[in-house]
Amino acid sequence: MEEVPLEAQRSQAPAPEAAAGAETRITIDSPDAMQELGRGIAALLRPGDLVLLTGELGAGKTTLTRGLGEGLGVRGAVTSPTFVIARVHPSLTGGPALVHVDAYRLGGGLDEMEDLDLDVSLPESVVVVEWGDGKVEELSDDRLHVVIARAVGHEEVLDDVREVVVRGVGERWSAGAGLDALAGALSE
Ligand SMILES: Nc1ncnc2c1ncn2[C@@H]1O[C@H](COP(=O)(O)OP(=O)(O)O)[C@@H](O)[C@H]1O
Ligand SMILES: [Mg+2]
Repeated sequence: MEEVPLEAQRSQAPAPEAAAGAETRITIDSPDAMQELGRGIAALLRPGDLVLLTGELGAGKTTLTRGLGEGLGVRGAVTSPTFVIARVHPSLTGGPALVHVDAYRLGGGLDEMEDLDLDVSLPESVVVVEWGDGKVEELSDDRLHVVIARAVGHEEVLDDVREVVVRGVGERWSAGAGLDALAGALSE
């Protein structure tokens, strides 16, 4: 009996992931541009949104979060939450608070996150998590996943250049929800 090659099987299967999300890729060439990207993303966010930030130490996760905080108009400087796991920045403008989480030492995942007793309603906040992969996805079926990688030139690592992928996961982002415009806004 002849076997159907794996590739053919795949192409017949529905691809729900592809239909249920949106993705945009952006090259960022300075810390300022990263912050500007954060402000652009902030404009798309609403209460209850979850944003996961992935990238090695020094990739620019906190720099992007600083822009998110500016865009959301929240109180307090966004810094690396090295000594705390999470920091709440209340809105100055009646919008959602920014909850900035460093999940690096959050071994237990969501349970531990709930134990933090943040004294804030997560459904009414924007929650941004550095190092959150595999730990906080259960918080929401919908999330924005931002992956930051250092760009590599032919011979050398380009110190200030980052390749950023912004991927919307779930119903919330299924129609794109404005992700496409992010790249254009930065390209001038
Ligand atoms: N294109 C860029 N985007 C973001 N940060 C950059 C960029 N180029 C250089 N940097 C520098 O890299 C560092 C990023 O630090 P940070 O945002 O704290 O990273 P992370 O939170 O991912 O560890 C900062 O010192 C920043 O000035
Ligand atoms: Mg950081």
